[in-house]
Amino acid sequence: MAIKSIFVIGAGTMGNGIAQTAAVSGYKVTMMDVAEDFVQRGKSTIAKSVEKLAEKGRITAEQKQAALDIVPVTDIKGVAEADLVIEAATENPEVKFKLFQDLDSIARPQIVLASNTSSISLTKLAAATKRPDKVVGMHFFNPVPLMSLIEIVRGLGTSDASVDTALEVGKQMGKTPVVVNDSPGFVSNRVLCPMINEAIFALEEGVSDAEGIDTVMKLGMAHPMGPLTLADLIGLDVVLYVMEVLQRDLGDSKYRPAPLLRRMVDAGYLGRKSGKGFYDYK
Ligand code: 3HC
Repeated sequence: MAIKSIFVIGAGTMGNGIAQTAAVSGYKVTMMDVAEDFVQRGKSTIAKSVEKLAEKGRITAEQKQAALDIVPVTDIKGVAEADLVIEAATENPEVKFKLFQDLDSIARPQIVLASNTSSISLTKLAAATKRPDKVVGMHFFNPVPLMSLIEIVRGLGTSDASVDTALEVGKQMGKTPVVVNDSPGFVSNRVLCPMINEAIFALEEGVSDAEGIDTVMKLGMAHPMGPLTLADLIGLDVVLYVMEVLQRDLGDSKYRPAPLLRRMVDAGYLGRKSGKGFYDYK
């Protein structure tokens, strides 16, 4: 089935980035969130992003307009008309399981339901629906308009046809999709989050300060951002959540979250989105 319209659930950092990228790539996009101010905030983030990309000549005026034309909604019923759903709601298992049940009952039966989850089992999400073969992971990276990877996650029951749909849409979005099997943290967060967690242990133990740790990894390993700057970009709550999933589901204490990470999340220091993390953004 040719995909023409995409329904994106969630207008937060990942949701609005996915919606923007899909619209710029020629899809008709609807972006949904639970409250009007969330979708409007998502729309204004998109407007700023496409303004910048158009100024730099990275997108055309038509592509910019396509992103500005994304339809903001607060109701899920429009899913009935969509050719593909990409869910990027809050990373909360209860929210996602309920959402997938609702999506399953509203979306046409032949439609693929994709999730941007970074840590929840695709196999479990699929089991919440009556179409487990049509549930697939499309894990994007922040900032979505700039990062070229999509991890396409194959759950235990995901069909080859659903993986092919995700691959095709991913390529149409200008990304490089890589297929991985469902496993805690997939490949990306299984490797990335323990590195960030280790940087937090090093900070806590006084091996160096935040700037020192980040500079070592930037200049010594050619990472575009140091691990603590990256943690602030991702959100410390997300990093903590991923580490908890890795520790619980892989059952290995080597994944234990750094105590400082937990304390910072408890204090509300979540990184850029809260104005304070390892660095100050106010
Ligand atoms: N839209 C448009 N422009 C954007 C943008 C967006 N969403 N986000 C950033 N930019 C712009 C910046 O404003 C800047 O513009 P300017 O040059 O006019 O000021 C430009 O992009 C380039 O930014 P910088 O000069 O600050 O920095 P870089 O050239 O290093 O590029 C970066 C920025 C691409 C973010 C780069 O630093 C990078 O690759 N960082 C690593 C990001 C990463 O690892 N992401 C993955 C996170 S893990 C994840 O998402 C998975 C999840 O499950 C946890």
